[in-house]
Amino acid sequence: MSTHPARKRILFVCLGNICRSPLAHGVFEHQVAEAGLSDSFEADSAGTAAWHIGRPPDARSVSVAARRGIDLTTQRARQVTQEDFARFDLILAMDMANHQALLEIAPDELVHKVQMFLRNSTGDTAGEVPDPYYGGDDGFEQVLDLVEDGSRTLLARLNQIER
Ligand code: 4NP
Repeated sequence: MSTHPARKRILFVCLGNICRSPLAHGVFEHQVAEAGLSDSFEADSAGTAAWHIGRPPDARSVSVAARRGIDLTTQRARQVTQEDFARFDLILAMDMANHQALLEIAPDELVHKVQMFLRNSTGDTAGEVPDPYYGGDDGFEQVLDLVEDGSRTLLARLNQIER
């Protein structure tokens, strides 16, 4: 029997699961691997909407991530399920609308798992990762910068809790 504590499971959630949450999922896994912590954390992503189920991430997310050495091409969009609330330890929303949509479907006893991804952010985005879908390529670059910062903060916080 393994004496390792269970891996902490983190689910990143946006609306379509093709722009922001695939980036957060990929960035977090990349930072976890770089820190030698792959035995301690497991990540996934999902959307509150069903529009893009089965599709790979938006090509603009794939390309900004690839330029920083992060491969998103194996990800496929899916919608948040009821099982996710039991399976994951933390369910992290990219914006307030995602957060609200998650709270509406979360079982009462598990709502504490639903949090804002950038909850410690003091930047001018008011704690949200803005939706880049209808914008240009720089929006994706800005989202990636925000996500990298947020993920670093998250990992530091989770590691402190673990110790
Ligand atoms: P995401 O971005 O929530 O970051 O994946 C969006 C992707 C698709 C749509 C909206 C936002 N859409 O309207 O199809």
